[in-house]
Amino acid sequence: MYRVLFLRRRAVCIVSAIWILTMLFTYVFVTEESQRSEGKRFRQQVRFKAKTDSLPLAEDTFQDIPPHKDSQDPDYGIPVEVNNANKKFLEEFVIVPDTDELKLTSKKGNQEKNPRDSTFENSSDPLSLPRIAEYCNIPKLPHTGQEGEVASVYKLKSVYTVMRHGDRTTLYTFPRHRNPTISCRFKSNMVAHPKINAFAQTMDSFTGKQNTGSLFLNWALYPNRAVCDSSFLTPVGALQHIINGVHFNQKYVQNLKLFKEVFSPDQVKIKVTEYSRTYQSAMAFLYGFLPTFNLTELNVQLTRNIFFCSEKAVGSSCECPSIQHFKKLSNREVMSAKLNLTRQKHLRKEIAEVFELNVDQLPFNYAMFDILSSYACHGIKLPCNNKGKCITKDMLSGLTEYLDKSGAAYEKSPSFKKHNQLSSYPLLMDIGNHMISVAHGKTNEKFVLYSGHDKTVSPVLSVLGINPGKWVKYATRVVFELYNRHDVKDHYYIRILHDGKDLTSQVNFCKEKMSNGLCKIKHFLQFLKEDILNETRTKQFSKACKDFTR
Ligand SMILES: *[C@@H]1O[C@H](CO)[C@@H](O)[C@H](O)[C@H]1NC(C)=O
Ligand SMILES: *[C@@H]1O[C@H](CO)[C@@H](O)[C@H](O)[C@H]1NC(C)=O
Ligand SMILES: *[C@@H]1O[C@H](CO)[C@@H](O)[C@H](O)[C@H]1NC(C)=O
Ligand SMILES: *[C@@H]1O[C@H](CO)[C@@H](O)[C@H](O)[C@H]1NC(C)=O
Repeated sequence: MYRVLFLRRRAVCIVSAIWILTMLFTYVFVTEESQRSEGKRFRQQVRFKAKTDSLPLAEDTFQDIPPHKDSQDPDYGIPVEVNNANKKFLEEFVIVPDTDELKLTSKKGNQEKNPRDSTFENSSDPLSLPRIAEYCNIPKLPHTGQEGEVASVYKLKSVYTVMRHGDRTTLYTFPRHRNPTISCRFKSNMVAHPKINAFAQTMDSFTGKQNTGSLFLNWALYPNRAVCDSSFLTPVGALQHIINGVHFNQKYVQNLKLFKEVFSPDQVKIKVTEYSRTYQSAMAFLYGFLPTFNLTELNVQLTRNIFFCSEKAVGSSCECPSIQHFKKLSNREVMSAKLNLTRQKHLRKEIAEVFELNVDQLPFNYAMFDILSSYACHGIKLPCNNKGKCITKDMLSGLTEYLDKSGAAYEKSPSFKKHNQLSSYPLLMDIGNHMISVAHGKTNEKFVLYSGHDKTVSPVLSVLGINPGKWVKYATRVVFELYNRHDVKDHYYIRILHDGKDLTSQVNFCKEKMSNGLCKIKHFLQFLKEDILNETRTKQFSKACKDFTR
């Protein structure tokens, strides 16, 4: 199915190949002070003695490390990331008085239209449903997005990307049924594109050659096995992130010269949760994005917390039982919100019939969608029973309607707002602190990557006020850009984008305070200092995390 799709796109691919080819050679040597002294290249860490160290380095030993842990913990891991650095929390940032209300001709981003994909003419194909096609995020070239599209008077200082892993196999099953088999072999000829064609070979050359301090040592770098185990990144998932990376390379590296003269690995900071799908997603993205991909030189940090909490970022322990507590409360609040469940009940009956199960044996609706969308996203015919009764496109559509409605109800739940604020606090604090370091010239890092999950991305969108409650698609990305002005020193601005759309003017703390299409950093820092935990009625993370009465 993908092959068919890609063949049709070959023409487009060839055209985009031309700009890709030039990619590695287009450095302009900008003379600017190098701030390399504080780089933490090759920061020595205690070498992690994984059990897998003793295995011979044959191809197969790179496959199953580590086992997926989703079944053990609904929130993908316990919050521990000890960091002894006692850095002052949200250190003082000097904000220069406003003098920048000059009129600028703000360059409007080329709002490239995303024409409906005409490949799916067959109306019984679930991918003909826009919502399903959106969720699956079928890789497309050339990739579009308004990243980095600002007036040239603004100078890009740093970029922060929070992303969900790419397309994966499902985490669930229907009782007594097997999920479809999905190939986990990345095929270099999937799309005619030099960067994509060289991916597997490049990954093979770095297999087992991670930075010696890396806690990911010996992990498989990309999908390269006959069959994807449950919750594994698929070849399509890798492709989504290579394409994201190539797009970012065009926008930030080629157009805006984010890395200046020569790229050095200490200009990027990479944080990844301890899941093979987020690690492989990061690899695919960085491969597409970085001017040179040398995994040995990259410091890929493992985070044992899907919210990327570190004690350094939150100024206290990362333990936060309130997050789970408020999640539970929000379930109750949403249930009492009295969604019209007539259609959903009918739907569950129909689905149960196809699988020849009782309604109460069915997995919960999110899980059913996870299983069934995996058929749709991989062009596999929806399942049928022996009597010829099949899951239909309409059933899938009914499920998405229910999920989107329920998602919107969660966004309104007071407890869910607290859950979201506590979940996104560590990450947003980390970004805020890093922006301050950049503005003070205290770091050489220009790009920070957080490779995580839907549960990482969603709360961030929610607290920014730009989350409609839809389940975020595979390989979704939220980007924070930090700029300063060429002409007025010390004036810093941010932009916030979701999947390439500039949403800055809709963000809670930027709304109605925009200057020339950007948002002053002070509004973001003010939000971090004063409002980010406002629903919990305290400004202290540690307090809000322990005190359920708030
Ligand atoms: C559309 O696809 C379905 C199942 O995939 C197939 O049975 C049907 O014949 C197709 N219809 C057309 C018009 O191609
Ligand atoms: C990657 O970096 C390491 C360490 O600097 C170096 O030894 C190696 O040759 C580099 N590999 C490539 C392919 O450039
Ligand atoms: C609930 O939805 C069903 C169909 O989905 C509709 O027929 C019914 O009128 C709705 N009930 C209410 C109270 O809105
Ligand atoms: C918290 O701040 C948001 C805007 O950032 C606002 O919409 C909300 O009402 C505030 N909540 C409380 C409890 O003050």
